[in-house]
Amino acid sequence: MPLKQLAPGEMTADDLRDWCSVLNDMTAADMPGEPRWRTDRLSDYLTGSLPDDRRFLFMDRDADGDLVGHASLILFGSGGGEQGGTGVVEMSTRPSARGKGVGSRLLRAVAECAKANGCRTLAVEVIATTPAVGFYDRHGFSRNVVEQRHLLRWADIDWEKIEHAAGRLAAGYRLEYHAGGVPDRLMDSYADVKANLRSSPGNVAFVPEWRGSAYAPALRDSFQTLARRGMRSHIAVALAEPFGHVVGLTELVVSAQRPTRADQYDTVVAPQHRSYGLAMTMKARLLTELRRAEPQLVDVQTWTLETADDVRWINAELGFVHDVDWYDYVADVDKLLARLARKH
Ligand SMILES: CC(C)(COP(=O)(O)OP(=O)(O)OC[C@H]1O[C@@H](n2cnc3c(N)ncnc32)[C@H](O)[C@@H]1OP(=O)(O)O)[C@@H](O)C(=O)NCCC(=O)NCCS
Repeated sequence: MPLKQLAPGEMTADDLRDWCSVLNDMTAADMPGEPRWRTDRLSDYLTGSLPDDRRFLFMDRDADGDLVGHASLILFGSGGGEQGGTGVVEMSTRPSARGKGVGSRLLRAVAECAKANGCRTLAVEVIATTPAVGFYDRHGFSRNVVEQRHLLRWADIDWEKIEHAAGRLAAGYRLEYHAGGVPDRLMDSYADVKANLRSSPGNVAFVPEWRGSAYAPALRDSFQTLARRGMRSHIAVALAEPFGHVVGLTELVVSAQRPTRADQYDTVVAPQHRSYGLAMTMKARLLTELRRAEPQLVDVQTWTLETADDVRWINAELGFVHDVDWYDYVADVDKLLARLARKH
């Protein structure tokens, strides 16, 4: 059976099981310490997207019908947002089928689909210790940003220290914890604080779709999209008295597909409220809430730039340890297609 592009919702239960098994074979071969994938809500995870974004899925089966590789492409901002024209790729070849052109075939299908849909740039996140680095180098992708992945192992957490940090709050502020999103009364000020991420010097060049939402309606969509994809969001906010508007936030997500792993995403404090220890207090508070809300957790991962000294200091205090680098690779779609055509 040839390489096939699937329409959203077209995946069968067998497709989902096969998709998951490729992910788990890949994980076992390339990143054995990482949690395994589950099929729980995998269909929602693979097909859910923001209203302006589009997702495309590709499956490659061999002559026996066995799935040898798959790819997903998300095209941002068909509505013309800041990320418009960028597509993000995720793909895997089953380890037993590598080195036979499966990855290149998938990449070509992805690039053709991107081109047909007006996408000019493809981006991919790659773990530095995996064979994917050689593959994307070979295909002419360039390394845009290096982020350091840090892991906090639940079993290693010093809870006394965390509880103490969570309780240390500067005068004039209060903390709230919310699951699944933030209440409407906080949405506008939350979005304002989030907008600081865009202007931070050295901020990551590529901001995944739902993280980039810096105005209230898009933010609401992004929380709903996360929930639709089986991802539970947990949020701590710092509010300034007496008006109770958001001046700091920290977000974390636990997915149904890998429920023992939490992803710590954005932490940001409005510039005029920095240096009061709010980020540390919010992050510590979020951990204490998670202890109750997600008792199955084994670890929390987060990513920082080498230059982000403040966040790195806080993470180290909380017990996060750097284990591996992640590269953001990008390629121009036209150049990639020309290169793929020359090779075959
Ligand atoms: C990256 C990956 C998809 C490549 O799949 P693949 O089917 O083995 O790739 P191909 O057989 O099509 O290889 C294409 C080219 O890349 C080269 N290549 C592949 N892996 C390589 C490696 N580890 N080092 C150097 N070159 C490599 C091949 O030699 C080949 O070059 P050629 O066309 O000149 O012969 C596969 O290694 C994988 O699934 N990795 C894990 C998933 C992952 O990390 N994905 C990236 C994040 S989305």
